[in-house]
Amino acid sequence: MTSGASTDTTAASAAAPTPQRIGVPREIFPGEKRVATVPDVVSKLVKLGFAVVVETGAGNLADLSDDAYREAGASIAGSTAELWNSSDIVFKVRPPTPEEVALMHEGQTLIGFIWPAQNPELMQQLAAKKVTALSIDALPRTLSRAQKMDALTSMAGVSGYRAVVEAANAFGRFFNGQITAAGKVPPAKVFIAGAGVAGLAAIGAAASLGAIVRANDTRAEVADQVVSLGGEFVKVDYEEEGSGGGGYAKVMSEGFQAAQREMYAQQAREVDIIITTALIPGKPAPKLITAEMVKSMKPGSVIVDMAAEQGGNCELTVPGEAVVRHGVTIVGYTDLASRMARQSSTLYGTNLFRLTEELCKTKDGVINVNMSDDAIRGLTVVKDGEITWPAPPLPVAAKPPAKPAGPVVEKKGGHGHGSTGPLPAKNLAVIFGLGALAFWFIGAYAPAAFLGHFTVFVLACFIGYMVVWNVTPALHTPLMSVTNAISSIIAIGALVQIAPPDPSAGGRPAELIHWLAFVGITLTAINMFGGFSVTRRMLAMFRK
Ligand code: NAI
Repeated sequence: MTSGASTDTTAASAAAPTPQRIGVPREIFPGEKRVATVPDVVSKLVKLGFAVVVETGAGNLADLSDDAYREAGASIAGSTAELWNSSDIVFKVRPPTPEEVALMHEGQTLIGFIWPAQNPELMQQLAAKKVTALSIDALPRTLSRAQKMDALTSMAGVSGYRAVVEAANAFGRFFNGQITAAGKVPPAKVFIAGAGVAGLAAIGAAASLGAIVRANDTRAEVADQVVSLGGEFVKVDYEEEGSGGGGYAKVMSEGFQAAQREMYAQQAREVDIIITTALIPGKPAPKLITAEMVKSMKPGSVIVDMAAEQGGNCELTVPGEAVVRHGVTIVGYTDLASRMARQSSTLYGTNLFRLTEELCKTKDGVINVNMSDDAIRGLTVVKDGEITWPAPPLPVAAKPPAKPAGPVVEKKGGHGHGSTGPLPAKNLAVIFGLGALAFWFIGAYAPAAFLGHFTVFVLACFIGYMVVWNVTPALHTPLMSVTNAISSIIAIGALVQIAPPDPSAGGRPAELIHWLAFVGITLTAINMFGGFSVTRRMLAMFRK
């Protein structure tokens, strides 16, 4: 039975609080295969002091048996009603149905996806039951401390990966290019629309399968991430900053949308697979792929529309289904995370465990829904029967620093707008003037020998700077290791010194130099060959 322990701070005041029970019911939403916790997480929850009860068969569709939960320390409830009755806290994946809410009791805490904005009726029902509800989708994602609990990110990551798997399944060719005895196979070309969490996961998955991956997003700041995952960022030929703050996009101007349509139409003609993930929270999904574009794609091409549930990024998407239109397979599945149930349950369970740790800092099996904690406040949508959603905006200091618009504007063609980069032209002129004066001073007064070395030094700095500046950031590590290998040029010094000891120089010092030179050559040889070999291996990771 329930311990009746309050979820309020006062609970901790009792001398020895009774540990609370976490209940994990079987998900009843049609087709839902995930479960809110997995055996590995159960043992961690038990270590935190909680008792865990799992409904029989809850993990079956994610290949997790009752026995596995039992071995991890959970007890098994024989029926849904028994589970809800005996739990102080309920972990769920999907929002509860009215039947499930009917099974709740006063003082109970529900943790799961509730989507308060989309489910006002559910919010009223939860409030009427005088429960506390923590909606994992309402987590303030901009708090770096909250990342470990960010189930939206975990689920989008799994879904982005699965979108590529679905595309590969529907696509009748290899992703990577191959040269076989039977002929040459070109690599598949994949275009990803929207490089948020799901889009980036899709880029990584498609690139690792060997495809040529391109991506576009209205937020220019994601370009580097696209490149570092092995994709190419395709820009829209129109100057407009797409960041709407908090890591989300904004609705773009008509002019931008027209330029974007043109670019997407060209990509549709060229690529084999399009995966769309474009979304602005709270808005219907932007229609980026028109029926005309679908028609222009090669027969056998595939579109995976991840935004299907929000109306779709493609005009011809049928939510929840895979359909063939104009010879193109359009996949509109809305349950991609559930299609990798074991993986997504493990990640989701871990997110909820991290949240439980935050709720139970005392590690005594009793949670404290501390409304003065920004992360917990954001999540709490109903507190003891009172609707507390939406949470007040976070204090300004807690927000990530806004990205300066300057560099973005400059990157897009440098048409002015008053910004010429990090330093204003006036300051640059002063710096260059001072630099020139210093050079004149050195040239006029420094000794000739110094001048020679100094010229080499300045040229080396300039060339080094230009080389590093023009190398993609992702390649900086191999660049460093190859530079390290080249620095072994000091081996030449050691080689000069290793000549047989000069008898005229007499005895030990010459012998000592000989051996020191030998040690020097050995060490630089390790540095040199090791450096080149490490560079080769690192570059191999970037090659298709
Ligand atoms: P996110 O908000 O992290 O990413 C969306 C990206 O789209 C952002 O980077 C944004 O800048 C970009 N974007 C917005 N408007 C755009 C435009 N007009 N052109 C180009 N890019 C644009 O969202 P997340 O988590 O990556 O999810 C992506 C989509 O996948 C959402 O629609 C989400 O609901 C859906 N999803 C679908 C699942 C399924 O099973 N089908 C499972 C999980 C997520």
